[in-house]
Formats: sequence, structure tokens, C-alpha cells
Amino acid sequence: MFEFLMGVEFLLLLVLVGVSGATGYAANHLKYVRESESSFRLWLKAAKIGVYIGTALIMVWVLDIIIIFVNYGWLFIMDRVLNLLPLLSLPAAIVLIFALPNLSRETNKKSSLFFIVSVHVMTVGAVLAFFLVTIDIPAIPNTKDLLIYGGALITSAGLLWLYHGRRIRLLENRLPRYSIRIVRGAVYFVLVFVVAITGLVVSQKMSEFPGRMNMVHHHTADFGGGDSSLDKNTNAHHDGHDSNSDSKSISVVELKGPQTDIPDKKYVLYAETKKIRLASGESIEAWTFNGQSPGPELVANEGDLVEVRLVNKNIDSGVTIHWHGVDVPNGEDGVAGMTQDAVMPGESYTYRFVVKEVGTHWYHSHQQSSVQVQKGLFGAFIIHPSSQYQHETKTMDTTIVAHDWITPDGRNIPALDTADTFQRKTVNTGTPIRLRLINAGNLTRTFSLNGVPFKVVAIDGYELNEPGTLTTSLLRIGGGGRYDIEFIMPDTAVTLAMLMEGKPIGIVYSPDGHGKRNVLDEGEILDITKYGSPAQASFNTSTVFDRTFTLILDQTYFGVYNGEAGQQWVINGKTFPDTPTLMVKEGDLVKTTFVNRSFADHPMHLHGHHVQVISKNGKPISGSPLVLDTVNIEPGETFEVAFLANNPGLWMDHCHNLDHAQKGMTMHVAYENVYTPFAIGSETGNSPE
Ligand code: C2O
Ligand code: CU
Repeated sequence: MFEFLMGVEFLLLLVLVGVSGATGYAANHLKYVRESESSFRLWLKAAKIGVYIGTALIMVWVLDIIIIFVNYGWLFIMDRVLNLLPLLSLPAAIVLIFALPNLSRETNKKSSLFFIVSVHVMTVGAVLAFFLVTIDIPAIPNTKDLLIYGGALITSAGLLWLYHGRRIRLLENRLPRYSIRIVRGAVYFVLVFVVAITGLVVSQKMSEFPGRMNMVHHHTADFGGGDSSLDKNTNAHHDGHDSNSDSKSISVVELKGPQTDIPDKKYVLYAETKKIRLASGESIEAWTFNGQSPGPELVANEGDLVEVRLVNKNIDSGVTIHWHGVDVPNGEDGVAGMTQDAVMPGESYTYRFVVKEVGTHWYHSHQQSSVQVQKGLFGAFIIHPSSQYQHETKTMDTTIVAHDWITPDGRNIPALDTADTFQRKTVNTGTPIRLRLINAGNLTRTFSLNGVPFKVVAIDGYELNEPGTLTTSLLRIGGGGRYDIEFIMPDTAVTLAMLMEGKPIGIVYSPDGHGKRNVLDEGEILDITKYGSPAQASFNTSTVFDRTFTLILDQTYFGVYNGEAGQQWVINGKTFPDTPTLMVKEGDLVKTTFVNRSFADHPMHLHGHHVQVISKNGKPISGSPLVLDTVNIEPGETFEVAFLANNPGLWMDHCHNLDHAQKGMTMHVAYENVYTPFAIGSETGNSPE
């Protein structure tokens, strides 16, 4: 429904541009043909019809916007109302109320001129509106956009008035010779073409990131309505240079885990290229940790000090490790160019941190993450509660990582770990099973479990309160997200499937290992905001927040980003580094509202913190409290999430469809006084996305 309404809007505006262009063409003839009554009539009629169709299109557009408003809310349409509506409705109103009646009363030069100009201004309004929706989305209405686009409309009105007035005087109503018109037409065409191409080339060049830039941009600082006395500090840190005069400044490199204590768990991960083979026999040129992908499963107990040494054997672009779902100190967060430099071939880097977040998490490189995670630089990271660990040893506890592999010839192969075909597993009847599903891919994945009642016991590692028993529900896991499901093995076969276009893949569990696959491919998607029972939680709808942020997620249809032309993914109309930087102070209660107006899911992942979901689509959540690190927001959805700012640092907050993050959908949560000595850009070798 939502996509339909947005699609209708796009089409309406596109058709409107065409119709108003044609109307402008017809109106233009009124300049030449006044002497010949009949053709004047004809062109006038054509122009009138065009104006009526254009007006009707605008009215349907308004209706479409009203329907979106009623179903999805003000946040979805505020820019349409405040930025687009004036551009479309004012010129149309002028044509209908003044220009047309005027022209019908007496057809003199003046009335023709007024009509021609106002129709052309209507065309300009339609083009600007279309441009705003497809390329320069306002999202959050602001006076700057209003002035720029309103100013463009008014300026064009003035210029058109001068131009057409002069032409009318000059031509004295005689149609110029055909050849002259052809030449003029050609010249205008070339001119528009040249301007467009120059515009594209220039913006492409300008959009290129500098060779060196700071990851956190204070020029887009958003204080969320909170204390902005940070101004002094942020100015001091502008361009990445810390000022020693500001004694409170703290560098990310000082925000580290325990450096000297003896670790409880110690791992070494070697990043290296390695050919791996999928179950179907397909071979993949993977980038791996310790020669395997998924990399070794890291296991720790709650409270353990974990030490991981990363050694880069031969990944030329450098690597890092980010601990997805584990709220480590900022300096251990593994973001190239923000918390460390990428670890180059032959180099190593040691991470040390105490783990508190029990549950299913994962780790992955955060250098060129859109490329490196895809190629295989990721693995599972399981943290057991210290108490529970002992008594459930007879549980079959398995981790399954969904991922998309790309073959050397460019085919995309979805798989569970490296299994791109259905697998069989033997499990004794009566065995408790915990399946930890990790989505390490970019796209949302839908899973089903058939043949046994089950429960979703945890999401993003967070244990749900009193989860109910499910039988036919489908589970939708966004990119980066995790679901833990539990069931007791029956004496018949159980089929876990990942549903996809084409044939599903999955695992058949059975006591004799020969169970028949029986895929459940239809059912209702589990709504996690209504699952389980409510319980005491840190935030609720009446919490008073220190800062509130509104973040509108959109796609542009076209644009240039870091030197590349194409579609982009924007936050409040902007791509990184122009996306807002959410400024917070330690101890702040922070609320962020995400609105997805695009055609794709956006699993928004905040580093260093967990967020509690307060409401979805305006309704407070009614099930178990939900504390997530990756909140998947589907088209047309609004999520309010809250967190306590309790982990000082500079933290990424981005879409975990890593291709989206790489195309602009990245921002940061920045604590006052924290700065980074690292930078990104071609000169630095750091490129976190
Ligand atoms: Cu799982 Cu910023 O990443
Ligand atoms: Cu996204």
C-alpha cells in the first residue's frame, strides 16, 4: 500500500512535468499567431486543456498526499506540504484565477504575455517539485530550501516575463520563419544539454570525498533540542584538530578496555584470502578469518575479559573488526578512520574488552564493510550468561549465519553458512534445540520452521519476556539482526527454511537423519512489537527525554555521491557526510524516531549502545520489551527508539544494508568532548563503508 501511494506520487509528478511542458509549448504559440484568429483559438484551447489536466493532476497528487497522511502520519508528508505544495499550487492558482479569465475577456498583448508567463512558471514549479522528490529531498522542511526553491520560482517568473515581453514586441505577432525556429530550438536544446552535463560533471567532482576528512562532522550537528553549549567544543574540534586548550577533550584512543589484566578468553584471527566451496560445489574467492567463512565462532561468558588479536595476512585494502551487538569501549569498536586505522597486510591489532551483552552477536570487518563483509570477513560471537552456561549442556546449541555469496562470474548465491542447498541433520528425539539465526547479509530474510511448536527466545541477543509458542509464523530478520529460536526435537522431521524467490534453502532435522523436507512457505510474519509479555523497562511513552531526533529515510532516484552517479540512500535528505550528527552528553536520555519513506528495508544499527523500541507506527509496543542493536524499518513504518547515552565516544549509526550505508545512509552519534585523531579518505587508507 505504502509503496503504491509513493509510486503514484512519483508517476503523477512525472506526468505533470510532461503535461506542463506541452502546455507551455502550446501557450508559447500565442505569441506568434494573434493575427490568425483560428490558429490562435486552437493553441489557446490546447493550452487551456493542458492547464486543466495539470490542475487535475495536482489535485490527485494532493489527494494522494492526504491518503499518505491519514495512513502514515505527518512525518511522511511534511516536506510535501511545506516545500512542494506552494511550488505546484501557487502558479496553477495564478493561471486559473487571473491569467485565464483575463485572456478570455480581452486578448491583447498584455493578457497573452501574462498567460504565457504564468503557464511557464507552472511548468517550472512542476519541474522543481519533481526534482525535489527524486533528487534533493527536503524531508525536514526548512527555510533554506523554501528560499532556494521559492526564489528559483520567482526569479524564473521575472526572467520569463522579460524574455517573452521582449519577444512579443520584437515579433509583432508574426511567426518567425520555420528555419529560424528550427535553429533557435536547436540552440536552446544544446544549451540545456550543455548546462545539464556541466552540472553533472561539476557536481560529480564536487561530491568526491577529499583525500582526508574527519569521520564526524560537526557542521551538521543536531542537538536534538537539548543543550547546545557544546558549540565551543565542537568548534575547537573542527577539521579534526583537537585543541589542547580544551582540557575536557578526550581522544577515542583513550577509551579502551582493560589493557593489562589477564584475559579470560583469547583469540587470534588471521584475515586472509581463501577459496571456499559451497555445498553445491560452487567455489568462491572468499576473504576469511582463519581460512574459513563464517570465521571461527567466538564464545565467551558474561563478564569475561576477551582479547582478540587481528592479524592481516594479505587483505590489501586493510581490515578491522567491529563487534556487532557488543557495546565495547569506543576505542575497541573497530571502525576504520574513526576508532583506529585499518590494519594493513603484515600488521596486527589487539582488541580487549569485557563482555556484558549476553546472547547471539557477530563480528565483521568495518573497513570497506560493504565489500569485505560480502566477501566473508565475519563470524558469530556468542556470549553465554555465566549462570545458565552449565546446566543446559545437553541443549543442542547451533549458530546459523545467512549470507549472500557472489561467484567469480558475478552470480548471487544465498546460503546458510556455506550451505546453498538443503541439508539434513540428525537430532535425538527430546533434545532441546537452540538455533541462533544471524543475518549477515544486506537484505531482510524470511525464515520458517515447520513441524514443531517453537519460541523466539531472544532478538539481537536480548532475551524476550514470556515469548509465546508459535507454529505457523514466519520470521523476518533484517540485515545484521539475530533471532534465537528454541524447540524440543519431536520424533518427526522439522524443516527450517530461508524463503526466497526460487527454491528455498534450509535444514531438515530428524531423529534418523533421513527426514523429509516440508517447507512452510506461507504464514503471518511475526510482529515482534506484539510478541511476549510486557515487563519493566528503562523507557516508555511517558519518559521525558533530554534529546529527541527525527530521522527520515529516503531514496533519491538519481544523484552523484563520492564521484559516482546513481541512486542514493539519504537521511533527512542528505548523504554522509552531510547527514546529521546526533550530539549527546553522557547521561542523556535520547529518543530517535525513524521514518522509512523509501521502497527498501533499512536495518538501522547504532554502535556502542542498545536501543529500546518504544513504539511502532505510533503505537506503543505491547509485547515483551525489545532492546535491539539493529532495528529493521520497513517501507511506510515509523519506529521510536530510545537509549541512554552511557558509552562515551564517536559511534556510527547506519543502515546495515551495507550497500545503503556505502551510498550515503550513514551518520554518527557523537558525545561532546570526544574527538578522533583518525581520518578517512584516499590519503588515509581508511574507508569504513
Ligand atoms: Cu555491523 Cu557498523 O556495523
Ligand atoms: Cu538501508
